[in-house]
Amino acid sequence: MSLSVSRFGWVSARLAALVAACCVGLAGVAWLSWSASESSGYDPALRYPHRADAIVLQPPSVEPHDATPVGNLTTTLAGYADVPGTLVVLPGSVAVEEREALTATLDTLFGTPAAPRVLDSTPVGDLAISPTQLAAGSQVYRRLCNQCHGLTGNGQGNAGDWIHPFPRDFRLGKFKIASKGSRPSPGELRRVLREGVPGTRMQAYDLISEADMNAVIAYVIHLSQRGESEVKTLVTLANDEGTEPAEVAALVTAAANRSAADWQAAALTPKLTPVTLPTGDDALRRGHALFTQNCLSCHAGYGHAESFRYDAWGVAAKLPDLTRGEWKWGRTPADAVARIRNGIPAANMPANPSLTDAEVLDLAAFALALSRPDLLPADVRDAVHPDPDAE
Ligand code: HEC
Ligand code: HEC
Repeated sequence: MSLSVSRFGWVSARLAALVAACCVGLAGVAWLSWSASESSGYDPALRYPHRADAIVLQPPSVEPHDATPVGNLTTTLAGYADVPGTLVVLPGSVAVEEREALTATLDTLFGTPAAPRVLDSTPVGDLAISPTQLAAGSQVYRRLCNQCHGLTGNGQGNAGDWIHPFPRDFRLGKFKIASKGSRPSPGELRRVLREGVPGTRMQAYDLISEADMNAVIAYVIHLSQRGESEVKTLVTLANDEGTEPAEVAALVTAAANRSAADWQAAALTPKLTPVTLPTGDDALRRGHALFTQNCLSCHAGYGHAESFRYDAWGVAAKLPDLTRGEWKWGRTPADAVARIRNGIPAANMPANPSLTDAEVLDLAAFALALSRPDLLPADVRDAVHPDPDAE
């Protein structure tokens, strides 16, 4: 009895707190919409700054022992240039005239934060990517995303450097959350935004309007195309000395065209179709054996053991603790199958083209059951969770 009373008391206290929070929240929303209407866009004179931070093409060959520390990401990445065996491009090493020609062409092709453009404004899948859509998207981005993902999409907004894992840097044209390859379709981006990325500071944006959602996705694609064109050109310029301004412009334009075509291709990625996974002890035993052969080398101790790998940005990313079900992407059977078949190229998790369909299904069933000891047959459970008392 006393339990139910105190529970009720707890609930009503929570309710009061919630009502109070809602009032504060509503006042906040009112303030936000007021301040948004006061200053919803960027100053038309503002240009995107040129890229100054290091581009890591080849990270150190020894796997990292810890996550890349927060607070000084750009210094850490630039520091790799001094490690033997790495390949790092420092934009400052490119001649000033070449960098100026690069930025001038980027301005022409991609506009400014207030008036963003893309080279090819044909829709990407079902997504309009017109200047009007992009201008609207830039305003949503400024309000909801800029503090983490940054003005140029570099992941270094005001809060970005202090968040672990770091907010995604869109400028490589690479994403971890895509069912195939390293570029999502607009539908996949929509899903990431609606669901968020569990276990990270990327929250679920499930309350913003469909119009704002489409606009901000178009804007992310714009930032990504712009950043990718800049990176590709900088890498070429760093390798070839004495490139004429006209040649620089041609290089940027070619890179922008390629990026636009790659986004068009990613939009054709078929939607995941539901799959049925095998059940029962035998399937889980087969999945366990396949995991031991194909996955354990990276997913040490199934994730019990902390381990890290360099990703496509040169950042040391933590491998998930699969025994806790730490997945950043959805956990439907179809998501698991796509992950295992296609890998996560931007995280350097390999694809598995040579596994049979039945093997992928067994692996998916096992990977999903890793966080459910009650589902595992005793022999497999003992291998996966060797010391249950330590839990
Ligand atoms: C509080 C910081 C924060 C805010 C605000 C934020 N993000 Fe993120 N975002 C992150 C983090 C952290 C990740 C996860 C990175 C990872 O998986 O390692 C992420 C991931 C993403 C991804 C997936 C990247 C990938 O590799 O697949 C997309 C797309 C994205 N954010 C877009 C947005 C957009 C658009 C907004 C605004 C509507 C936004 N984010 C707001 C921090 C933030
Ligand atoms: C070369 C190393 C490597 C191998 C081999 C590897 N993985 Fe991964 N895996 C990773 C990394 C790195 C991540 C973390 C990606 C991130 O979030 O940055 C990951 C993440 C995952 C995730 C979480 C996905 C999510 O949505 O967050 C699952 C599930 C997974 N791996 C399963 C497997 C399975 C099953 C195999 C074997 C078929 C496998 N991995 C082989 C490196 C590897």
